[in-house]
Amino acid sequence: MIIAIDGPAASGKGTLGKRLAEHFGFAHLDTGLLYRGVARALLDAGLPLEDAASATRAAEALDLAGLDEDRLRGAEMGEAASVVAAFPDVRAALVELQRRFARRPEGAVLDGRDIGTAICPEAEVKIFVTASPEERAARRHRELLRRGEDVAYETVLADIRRRDARDSGRASAPLKAAEDARLLDTTALDIEAAFRAAVSLVENAKATLPAG
Ligand code: C5P
Repeated sequence: MIIAIDGPAASGKGTLGKRLAEHFGFAHLDTGLLYRGVARALLDAGLPLEDAASATRAAEALDLAGLDEDRLRGAEMGEAASVVAAFPDVRAALVELQRRFARRPEGAVLDGRDIGTAICPEAEVKIFVTASPEERAARRHRELLRRGEDVAYETVLADIRRRDARDSGRASAPLKAAEDARLLDTTALDIEAAFRAAVSLVENAKATLPAG
């Protein structure tokens, strides 16, 4: 079974994906890390993020096992990732890796922007997680403060709005809900309530699957 979770930056989809995977015993891939990894490779090599050819080579060479989450999680890496993620060749270079992951025999949860629309349109469960930009900024702000990053709420909100606009406005696999995705607005939900809602969406989908 494949669970596709998409949504904008800081919507809570990563936490939700992780918890769902633990709950159902599935493998979990946070696909944002792939684009962050590509951006990191360029920055480490002293190359500009706008260099599409180098970004594509970095995407082709990306090794899932070699991704160092700690170095990829910062606010500036999210912004950098959304620049390289707009290059169609970068996206194309990462498709097969994601589809291979989705075929894991135990089941897989993938979260990102285009999982339900482009990477796994056949996913049995598609959830589009949203929350207001202000609520997402407040959550991301708290998370960054916890990590010791001293950044103003207004800066985080501006970053989220800019990223929403870039991710939704790009020509190649833009951020958008698949037609058959279930919307989960977490603005007024805490993580437990969002998790319970997502579990019941998955349970309902499982109940309609052919046995075996
Ligand atoms: O989800 P996360 O914030 O880690 O993603 C970082 C950036 O990577 C996003 O802003 C988006 O531009 C890009 N991304 C994408 N497609 C995905 C996952 C992430 O374009 N499936």
